[in-house]
Amino acid sequence: MGAGNLCVLSLFLLMGSCLCQYQPNWDSIDSRPVPEWFDQAKLGIFIHWGVFSVPSYGSEWFWWYWQGRKIPDYVSFMTKNFAPGFQYQDFAPKFTAEFFDPKQWMDIFSASGAKYIVLTSKHHEGYTLWGSKYSWNWNAVDVGPKRDLVDEIATALRKNTDLRLGLYHSQFEWFHPLFRADAANNFKTNVFATEKSLPELYELINKYKPELLWSDGDGDAPDQYWNSTGFLAWLYNESPVRETIVTNDRWGKGSICTHGGYYTCTDRYSPGHLLKHKWESCMSIDKRSWGFRREAALSDYLTIEELLKSFIETVSCGGNLLMNVGPTHDGRIVPVFEERLRQMGQWLKVNGEGIYNTTAWRVQNDSVTPGVWYTSKPQDKAVYAFLLSWPDKGSVVLADPIVSASTQVVLVGNKPLKFDVLKPTGLQVYLPTLTPNEMPCSWAWTLRLTGIA
Ligand SMILES: *[C@@H]1O[C@H](CO)[C@@H](O)[C@H](O)[C@H]1NC(C)=O
Ligand SMILES: *[C@@H]1O[C@H](CO)[C@@H](O)[C@H](O)[C@H]1NC(C)=O
Ligand SMILES: *[C@@H]1O[C@H](CO)[C@@H](O)[C@H](O)[C@H]1NC(C)=O
Repeated sequence: MGAGNLCVLSLFLLMGSCLCQYQPNWDSIDSRPVPEWFDQAKLGIFIHWGVFSVPSYGSEWFWWYWQGRKIPDYVSFMTKNFAPGFQYQDFAPKFTAEFFDPKQWMDIFSASGAKYIVLTSKHHEGYTLWGSKYSWNWNAVDVGPKRDLVDEIATALRKNTDLRLGLYHSQFEWFHPLFRADAANNFKTNVFATEKSLPELYELINKYKPELLWSDGDGDAPDQYWNSTGFLAWLYNESPVRETIVTNDRWGKGSICTHGGYYTCTDRYSPGHLLKHKWESCMSIDKRSWGFRREAALSDYLTIEELLKSFIETVSCGGNLLMNVGPTHDGRIVPVFEERLRQMGQWLKVNGEGIYNTTAWRVQNDSVTPGVWYTSKPQDKAVYAFLLSWPDKGSVVLADPIVSASTQVVLVGNKPLKFDVLKPTGLQVYLPTLTPNEMPCSWAWTLRLTGIA
């Protein structure tokens, strides 16, 4: 046994059963590498579902916009459509989920090509989609569907798919009296954090063993208030998911884009350049809301071309895309969301070799031709160039690859292509003339380059 092993052994003995590699401070927490599966996965599905899916008007922030900010649109929506005295809590029994069929959801998720989901187990309204001990009469088992939705989704996911389970959890709750009291004390007391938010988190992790925990909603309280580094040290050292758990960066005021696991920075984040730290762009197919909105028009939904543009740019810049759908109060994923998810999967079936398990290349987008983005797969000595549109002149200039005698270019899903070598670097690739039926896919095309530098 070497001195190193002895050292580890004595540390182990000192600390009892926990080989506590991570300490409750950001230096230590931030030193944990993001588990590899996450970087390889590239695409996840975000699911915003809760009591806000009942009014399904405006935004999942409905309650706050109605009674917190008192935005006129929301106030008049309530006066016009509901009896006086109707409370937000009265929406909960109408969260019925009678058409919720977890197997049907799993069929759609599998078809999308995504490798993980992130479900809002509790949004800022405080209603938990599982039967939490800490959310008496404000959870999906006690009121509404009378079903443990987190359990049903987790079980169906594990049984029917190879996707990983991720859970979103909001730290603060808009109207919780304990949170309001702590806030009024400038967070010098932390009753809500220690009696509500943290116990709920331990319960969620121990019960459902998610592999991704998507924290949100610090309510302007610092991470010390939330005991975030203490919780994360437990999560990384001792929890049942310590080996594979991935977390994000929303752990208290000022931690976003700075501390925790991978970075989310802002909603719909799109830096356009490579980041050194692993990141994820969370965005929604509905451009204006994460929760389902009955009043949305077709033009409010991103097209598959727009989604693929975001996805390809994100992956080229080292990120993952977390694409959101909002199910209805009765448990449906409406056809427009289903179609986008299935289209992503159709595209990935052909082009996934340039997406999954890739890393960023030395160049992210072509320095001459707009709309050309690169990824690389060093293990296959391949570089992929994505064309967001089909070149109308029958050829495309790739200015950045350095060609060699062994260079080959293949249109993924089709055949090898001819090219001319350009000076000082790059190549001009000639695309075949294909009928729509012969096209490998219909929205964005992939060139596999080998033998280049
Ligand atoms: C807060 O974190 C510390 C570790 O720093 C831990 O010992 C303690 O149990 C945590 N408190 C709660 C309420 O989780
Ligand atoms: C990505 O790599 C992992 C392990 O490193 C492997 O299990 C998985 O099949 C790979 N996926 C693809 C699509 O190549
Ligand atoms: C490459 O992408 C960046 C960021 O989106 C953009 O500013 C730049 O114009 C792009 N380059 C070309 C040649 O399109």
